[in-house]
Amino acid sequence: MRSDPGLVKPLVEEILRWTSPVVHFCRTPNRDVEICGQRIRAGERMVLFYPSANRDEDVFERPDEFCVDRRPNRHLAFGIGEHFCLGAHVARLELEVIFRHLVQRLEHVELAGPVERLRSSVVGGIKHMPIRYRLRASV
Ligand code: HEM
Repeated sequence: MRSDPGLVKPLVEEILRWTSPVVHFCRTPNRDVEICGQRIRAGERMVLFYPSANRDEDVFERPDEFCVDRRPNRHLAFGIGEHFCLGAHVARLELEVIFRHLVQRLEHVELAGPVERLRSSVVGGIKHMPIRYRLRASV
C-alpha cells in the first residue's frame, strides 16, 4: 500500500465486500418472481443477506480470500437498485481518506485484547477492539 497508493480504492472496495457491514434487509415482492429457481410469491417476506451475496462463488473468484487488488469487485455492500445506499459516496470517501493517512503514518499495529462485536443482527460491527500501535513522525 505504501509503495502503491493506487491500491487504496480497491482496498476500500474489498473491505466493504469482506466486512459487508449491513448484514440484512427485507424485501416484499409486489408480484410473483423466480430467483435462481426459487419461486417467491407476491407479499411474501424475504431477507437479503449481504455477506452471503458478497461471497457468491458465481460472481467472485476465491470469495473467501481477502484480495487487496480485487478487480472487478461487484460487491453489494451498499445494496442495489432503487434503495441503493444514499451515503455510499460519503462512506467510500471516508474510508479512502482514513486509509490514505493511516498507510503513511502507521508503522505497526497489533491486537491488544479480545474483540467485542456489536450485538446486532443488522449491523455486523465491532464494539471494542483494543490495539497497540506505533506511528512514524509526521512529515
Ligand atoms: C460503510 C458504510 C455503509 C454501508 C455498508 C451502507 C449500506 C447500506 C445498505 C446495504 C443499504 C440498503 C440498500 C438496499 O436496500 O438495497 C443502505 C441504505 C441507505 N443508506 Fe447506507 N451504508 C453505509 C453508510 C451510509 C452513510 C454514511 C449514510 C448517510 C450519510 C447512509 C445512508 C443511507 C440511506 C439514507 C439509505 C436508504 C436509501 C433508500 O432506502 O432509498 N449510509 N445503506
